[in-house]
Amino acid sequence: MTDIPYGRQQIGEDEIAAVVEVLRSDFLTQGPLVERFEEAFARTVGAPYAVACSSGTAALHLAALAAGLGPGDRVLVPAITFVASANAGRFVGAEVAFADIDGDDLTLSPAAAEAVLEQARRAGRPFRALVTVDLAGHPCDMAAFGRLADAYGLIWIADACHALGATWTAPARNQGSSGESASGQASARSQESGSETVAAGSGQAREWRIGEWPRPDFTVFSFHPVKHITTGEGGMVVTHDARRAARVRRLRSHGIVRDPEQFVFREEACEPGGQVNPWYYEVQALGFNYRLTELQSALGLVQLRRLPAFLARRRAIADRYRRELTGHPGIRFPVVRPGCQHAWHLAIVRIDYAGLGTTRGQVMRRLRERGIGTQVHYIPVPMMPFYAGSALMAELPHALGYYREALSLPIFPGMGEAEVARVIEALREVLG
Ligand SMILES: Cc1ncc(COP(=O)(O)O)c(C=O)c1O
Repeated sequence: MTDIPYGRQQIGEDEIAAVVEVLRSDFLTQGPLVERFEEAFARTVGAPYAVACSSGTAALHLAALAAGLGPGDRVLVPAITFVASANAGRFVGAEVAFADIDGDDLTLSPAAAEAVLEQARRAGRPFRALVTVDLAGHPCDMAAFGRLADAYGLIWIADACHALGATWTAPARNQGSSGESASGQASARSQESGSETVAAGSGQAREWRIGEWPRPDFTVFSFHPVKHITTGEGGMVVTHDARRAARVRRLRSHGIVRDPEQFVFREEACEPGGQVNPWYYEVQALGFNYRLTELQSALGLVQLRRLPAFLARRRAIADRYRRELTGHPGIRFPVVRPGCQHAWHLAIVRIDYAGLGTTRGQVMRRLRERGIGTQVHYIPVPMMPFYAGSALMAELPHALGYYREALSLPIFPGMGEAEVARVIEALREVLG
């Protein structure tokens, strides 16, 4: 019996052939495939600009840099996420603080975020930026964060590293006045602010792909092997603003500018007759080498074509877990908000270990003995020694409560029905 990891890439002969073809070509990096991958990705998510880079972490760093964040700025981040979401602020010298998650869908709670933002504003130490995370592939409450970003003048970096292929529905403009949801109010206010209209032109509800709605200033994706598509390592910054895209592009490659129109030192750039010197380029900012290679782009292009099938398989696995494990005492599932299409990067269950007379360590070890890999996503970031002191855990009850119960079950597109059944049976057996 082979082991079942919690996540695994799906690589076929087409991917291998595409990479081998690049190895035989003239360009291993800085060739034509990066742009083709970027264009295909932009079309997939429904955004005008996508800039490929070397990892999701690099994408977050580039977004923070291109947003102009720096020392003296404060960035608000959900307590439950991978540490890179928080590190991006620290990379550029900003201060990072944490807000609690929603106890049901596990993404950043708009109410908790608003409370922190409001308190900071009143204390005269306002936040400059917000990082939201679509944890496990569940879209955060986009409309509500659009309203908060507008109300508090925030730069909004949407960390969608888990959410390629997820969608959310913007509520209709005049939806229910009495029992109106937070997102309903948010939608209405976002429209009033004129930043973006989230509902369709007629005021009807409308579905958006993650990356498609222009309100987040940047949306960031990762192509690590456990993600929806992989390039080995890789990431993408998506934006709806041409200047922001150009800034990210420049910072991705040493801050170098090659477009003569943008040269600053024109006398150096040109011959007296005005012709541009063929060797000339300018470094106009402190940039990095965060480029994606041609090999990775070739891999990404093939993977992107398979995304619909990958998503369908992930959804089928998640459905089966939910169908067959719902009702088991001690197990519960995070809530999927109405109107959201989850992308199921992770299949998270919440388990009452103590109530079942066991511990999480024991459960994970027993599943491991049966060849089944599980993980915990995540230890709250402010519980990490590096971030200790940046938040009081008492102020993050949902993050803490979730962390105590969390377990991520295996989910990946190559997982067959027999393997799903094995996980379900093993979990039932281990939990008793
Ligand atoms: C929420 C989140 N943000 C950012 C990252 C960083 O992406 P990468 O591993 O591609 O650097 C990850 C990776 O796991 C992630 O889960």
